[in-house]
Amino acid sequence: MSELASLAELAESLARKAVEVQLERLGSRIRVGTKSTATDMVTEVDHEVERLIVDGILAARPDDGILGEEGADVAGTSGHRWIVDPIDGTTNYLYGHPGFAVSIACEREGEVVVGVVNDPLHGELYAATRGDGATRNGAPIRCSEETDIAKALVATGFGYDPERRREQGAVIARVLADIRDIRRMGAAAVDLCSVASGRVDAYFERGLNAWDLAAGELIASEAGAVIEAIEGGPARAGSVLAAPPALIEPLRALLVG
Ligand code: IPD
Repeated sequence: MSELASLAELAESLARKAVEVQLERLGSRIRVGTKSTATDMVTEVDHEVERLIVDGILAARPDDGILGEEGADVAGTSGHRWIVDPIDGTTNYLYGHPGFAVSIACEREGEVVVGVVNDPLHGELYAATRGDGATRNGAPIRCSEETDIAKALVATGFGYDPERRREQGAVIARVLADIRDIRRMGAAAVDLCSVASGRVDAYFERGLNAWDLAAGELIASEAGAVIEAIEGGPARAGSVLAAPPALIEPLRALLVG
């Protein structure tokens, strides 16, 4: 088995175990705390799932680095680093609202080479290996072929900082009349997979973190989408625009204003 195939196999098996824990605890009494602001929630399940994934990685690959949303920070010596969001869409999770997921990516020498996003209430596991395309439940997926911005269904998300939300609201007010519609589904990793599968035409957001972006970015780009920063240049957690090639510039023009 190639190295990439074995990394993908490990990511997928951990993503399946992670959602078992998410589902076992869904709807039960869960301890909830807050992080950056009162709306930025973290649950004991986020911590449990991250622990399970970190233990699984270190058992299989003890020399790899790990960065996790809930604090995992292992330097590693192998040139590989895992980027983990144990529950992307924590607010969806707490309300029992479909559209939360676990997101697991693996970088090799700083480049993401494997990404898995597992969305259990929709029963959809998205996966990509660099250069090998993207899949949903094992079947190949491609992004939309839409070319007309007026017909574009565009997903976005909002950060937890009230000032950033004011700015994000102003951007929505500016673009809404010029596109088909907006969707705010609640998990950035799933939004990127929705671009990958053509369930929305495009997605943009400012202020993500590396764990929201890493796996979904690879999945969307392997499905044919272009992923850049909103103002141009390489995508970064702080600024992400994902769209089919023909929609990138028209959408950028609307967003940058
Ligand atoms: C959040 C979700 C949300 C996005 C926020 C993220 P979390 O991640 O992905 O859709 O709009 O920017 O922080 O907190 O649920 O892991």
